[in-house]
Amino acid sequence: MSDDVTVNAFFDEVGGQAFFERLAHAFYQHVTADDVLAPMYPPDDLPGAERRLALFLTQYWGGPTTYSQERGHPRLRMRHMPFKVNPEARDHWLTCMRLALDELAPAPAARAAFDDYFDRAAHAMLNTFDA
Ligand code: HEM
Repeated sequence: MSDDVTVNAFFDEVGGQAFFERLAHAFYQHVTADDVLAPMYPPDDLPGAERRLALFLTQYWGGPTTYSQERGHPRLRMRHMPFKVNPEARDHWLTCMRLALDELAPAPAARAAFDDYFDRAAHAMLNTFDA
């Protein structure tokens, strides 16, 4: 079976890679308007950051593995070490993601799965309590 054929029902039902591209796009609209988060992201490579998030989420939720082909093993906690992810940043990140999910309005069961996942993932990314 070729790489781009998915057998993941959840991934298909939610709308496939296009869903995660739209989610990452909506998320970054909020990030760039957020006073805590905006300064943390590369101003000259926001489309790149958006693409990395879309590809990671696509892979995580059962779609094509382009993310790891381009970036290797996700090692997300390690990749976030250069950034100060304190409780405030985490909460702003989660707010941006929830707003993006509100806009895309996936079916309730999918929304519950995303809320649960993003909540756990964002809490796991915390790497400092410094203000
Ligand atoms: C908790 C607060 C978080 C903050 C403040 C944060 C911040 C950042 C920043 C500043 C970057 C660099 C942008 C880039 O050039 O790609 C980044 C990258 C990334 N973040 Fe986060 N992040 C957070 C949580 C998360 C979570 C929960 C996920 C996944 C569910 C995630 C997934 C990613 C991915 C996939 C990348 C790109 C990694 C790569 O270089 O390949 N982040 N994040």
